[in-house]
Amino acid sequence: MAANISIPEFYNGQSIFLTGGTGFIGKVLVEKLLRSCPGIENVYMLCRSKKGKNINERFEEITSSPVFNLLREQNPQALNKIILIEGDIAMLEMGISKTDQEILKDKVTIVMHSAATVSFTEPLKVAVNTNLRSVRELICLAKDMKNLQSFVHISTAFANWFELNVKEEVYPSIYDPDDIIELANRLPDETLNKITPIFLGKHVNTYTFTKSLAENLVKREKNLPTIIIKPSMVGASVSEPHVGWIDSLMGPARYIYYTTQGIFRSVYLPNRSAAIDFVPVDFTTNLTIAAPWKCEIDKRTNSSMTYPYIYFSATGSVNQLLWKDYFKNSRDFGRTIPPKNAIWYPQIRLHKTKIGHHIDVALTHFIPAYLNDLVAKIKGQKAIFDE
Ligand SMILES: NC(=O)c1ccc[n+]([C@@H]2O[C@H](COP(=O)([O-])OP(=O)(O)OC[C@H]3O[C@@H](n4cnc5c(N)ncnc54)[C@H](OP(=O)(O)O)[C@@H]3O)[C@@H](O)[C@H]2O)c1
Repeated sequence: MAANISIPEFYNGQSIFLTGGTGFIGKVLVEKLLRSCPGIENVYMLCRSKKGKNINERFEEITSSPVFNLLREQNPQALNKIILIEGDIAMLEMGISKTDQEILKDKVTIVMHSAATVSFTEPLKVAVNTNLRSVRELICLAKDMKNLQSFVHISTAFANWFELNVKEEVYPSIYDPDDIIELANRLPDETLNKITPIFLGKHVNTYTFTKSLAENLVKREKNLPTIIIKPSMVGASVSEPHVGWIDSLMGPARYIYYTTQGIFRSVYLPNRSAAIDFVPVDFTTNLTIAAPWKCEIDKRTNSSMTYPYIYFSATGSVNQLLWKDYFKNSRDFGRTIPPKNAIWYPQIRLHKTKIGHHIDVALTHFIPAYLNDLVAKIKGQKAIFDE
């Protein structure tokens, strides 16, 4: 191959194994891959049964999402390239059947691991098996892939949030990831939950703790062509597949949503110059797609590559947005283009003190919510806020 191939050329004939393709980032990723790289052979997409729906029913539901409208218009056959692989990343061998494992070993050239639990409150055992052991299981499978070119792991920019001036590096953990996997699966749940805060140390939750350990797992695989993508907070798209597309209320999106609805009115913000770091989802997915291509280009000119390649997908100190402006912009947006389900004229007050915030929350969040539900119940309607 020539050294200056384009990204779509690089993806010609590639087969990708994607986890997390049913999630917010994963859907945008698979859509863009199929739309912009028409030479892709197949996308093997891990999927689990969920909420009484089997993987085929879930696939139908997911691919009927507006996120795929453009792809359906431009190349409706492209969705046929997705081959579902049943599995659950929290299980040993990711719950993938031996037959499917053989197919993956035979066919896959690029692994993209996006699946994770993004909950900050997961018990340690769940977080370890989902976010850490899954990476070990996937690495094990990837080592047997005959034609593997890249192993892309999506982590988080906040894996070591307590470090100042975080670099594109893997920060060594004081724990061996294998020991944590072993302990999490051996200790009784009650004991594990009691000692979790001791393990977490500076990590305030099991999410960053397990994500950080997973990076350590990836880093120790010196002979695998690994890439770690580290997004900060991922928000709505700038342009692809549609302007402003988002289907997740995780992270900052929920503040915009509730502020424009008039529900969210008070914020505790002691530092008015605090910056929010978030990135549009299409920036993150474009980076995830471009990274294996860049790795391949480098391989052709450099025989001694050092893995993992690490990329932040974040604003850092460039184009910084301040939290105060973020809330005010959300308020103004809600006033200019009110959402259909708005319940109150958007207003936001930023408090420097906790006491001021708590009083405001009591007066403008709890009391109106309580009164709203009371009236709904009297009318025999469904209460919204006491759920
Ligand atoms: N969104 C952000 O702001 C952000 C920021 C930094 C890093 N990240 C990272 O980006 C990745 C994707 O995040 P996201 O925002 O797309 O999250 P998301 O919308 O919650 O999607 C999570 C994905 O993981 C899958 N998953 C979770 N547990 C699973 C299991 N046990 N077995 C199989 N699949 C499982 C989900 O499948 P189901 O549909 O079956 O539940 C879903 O496809 C994650 O690794 C996350 O840590 C996200």
